[in-house]
Amino acid sequence: MAKARSTFICQNCGAVSPRWMGRCEDCDAWNSFVEEGAPAGIGARNAIGKGRVFALEGLSGNSPEAPRIVSGISELDRVTGGGFVPGSVLLLGGEPGIGKSTLLIQACAALAERGERVVYISGEEAVAQVRLRARRLGLDKAPVELAAETSVEDIAATLGEGKVPALLIIDSIQTMWTSTVESAPGTVTQVRAAAQGLIRYAKTTGACVILVGHVTKDGQIAGPRVVEHMVDAVASFEGDSGHQFRILRAVKNRFGPTDEIGVFEMTGGGLREVANPSALFLSGRDGSAPGTAVFAGMEGTRPLLVEIQALVSPTSFGTPRRAVVGWDPSRLAMVLAVLEAHAGLRFGQHDVYLNIAGGLRIAEPAADLAVAAALVSSLAGTELPVQTVFFGELGLSGAVRPVAHGGQRLKEAAKLGFRAAIAPAAEGNDSAPVSVRSVGHVSALVADIAASSTRRERGNSRPAVAAAG
Ligand code: TYD
Ligand code: MG
Repeated sequence: MAKARSTFICQNCGAVSPRWMGRCEDCDAWNSFVEEGAPAGIGARNAIGKGRVFALEGLSGNSPEAPRIVSGISELDRVTGGGFVPGSVLLLGGEPGIGKSTLLIQACAALAERGERVVYISGEEAVAQVRLRARRLGLDKAPVELAAETSVEDIAATLGEGKVPALLIIDSIQTMWTSTVESAPGTVTQVRAAAQGLIRYAKTTGACVILVGHVTKDGQIAGPRVVEHMVDAVASFEGDSGHQFRILRAVKNRFGPTDEIGVFEMTGGGLREVANPSALFLSGRDGSAPGTAVFAGMEGTRPLLVEIQALVSPTSFGTPRRAVVGWDPSRLAMVLAVLEAHAGLRFGQHDVYLNIAGGLRIAEPAADLAVAAALVSSLAGTELPVQTVFFGELGLSGAVRPVAHGGQRLKEAAKLGFRAAIAPAAEGNDSAPVSVRSVGHVSALVADIAASSTRRERGNSRPAVAAAG
């Protein structure tokens, strides 16, 4: 019989190598390879045995819509697409200490109060610690069933005894292990096998299982990254410890949209839902400072106003610095290039810093125009018109291109007391609740800002931005 061959698996990204390597060629992690037994999967068996015959079905069959288990925490239900789906598995990723356990214990308590059976398995904390947190949150009366366990077989056996739980929390998947593979807990092989076992449990019993996964600093779900494709939904819990708010973002969802976010605020009494995130992100805003622009964005189906801050200052180094927090650096490079090429501005001798206020991360190209406005405003040292929001995508030609959901963005701006918007030309602009200045080209934006700055600084010797085009 052939000797069982072992393989080396990168613990960061799951890359497989027949020999040990100091550095992973896939993800560049150092010293990340660990020897693990050859996984028994497809191809492990030599010959294909005789299979069972199954029936094939048509697309137009009658399958009832899966009922949802609604937690009652609306920001959470929004992200799951209207509640947890029975028999599905959700991976909840996030940095340690961000509040995953807090969110889940709150969800558990809410569901248990509605009469569902809810089981919380903690592999990281002792039962006493989980109880302590629940007491602090005022949830210790909720009929949640608790255990501190790490063996997948034991968990399945224990849960096999009583009624199938509606919701099973596994906190966290990195601490789980199964005896079907020999690797140590926390290794990729173990995490994968444990997740497989729990997914099988969910599929066969119809329980909804939530796996908690810790992510590394660069945002990868370490270890659990390799289970992302196995689960039905992946949500990530984000935020930084310097800010009190947290964002739950759907990354993958087989049963709902993936662009929804839920906004929470971490308080002394646990996570509180934020029903009006725009107000939160704009709070503490110094509207009169040069270099700040309010972007009317969209997160999923919800409009969200955020402040974009730019600082453009003469460089004291040979190569000017570009630093971005919360936005795509290559997108910033593009906006700068467009401003240089089509509006005659020069950033070559300036450091450029860009920050999305409040620690939010935005990915929408619609932020281009707001970023451009903030940059021009900072370069010119002049504040942008008050009570004005910006949105629009910039093309490489300098054209301002229309973006989706213009009406909703304008409505949200009006709701928060803004009076005007600078936006791409669109049909509904005339009947919008705020006055819309349509711009078709980035040079028009720059000319506007330059004009308002000369008006304000008339008599002042400081030169404003010279608008070209
Ligand atoms: P936790 O849910 O344990 O994080 P995770 O499971 O993602 O590692 O949350 C830990 C942090 O949350 C901790 O730094 C304290 C803070 N926290 C509050 O601010 N208020 C609270 O009511 C609770 C329970 C925690
Ligand atoms: Mg935790």
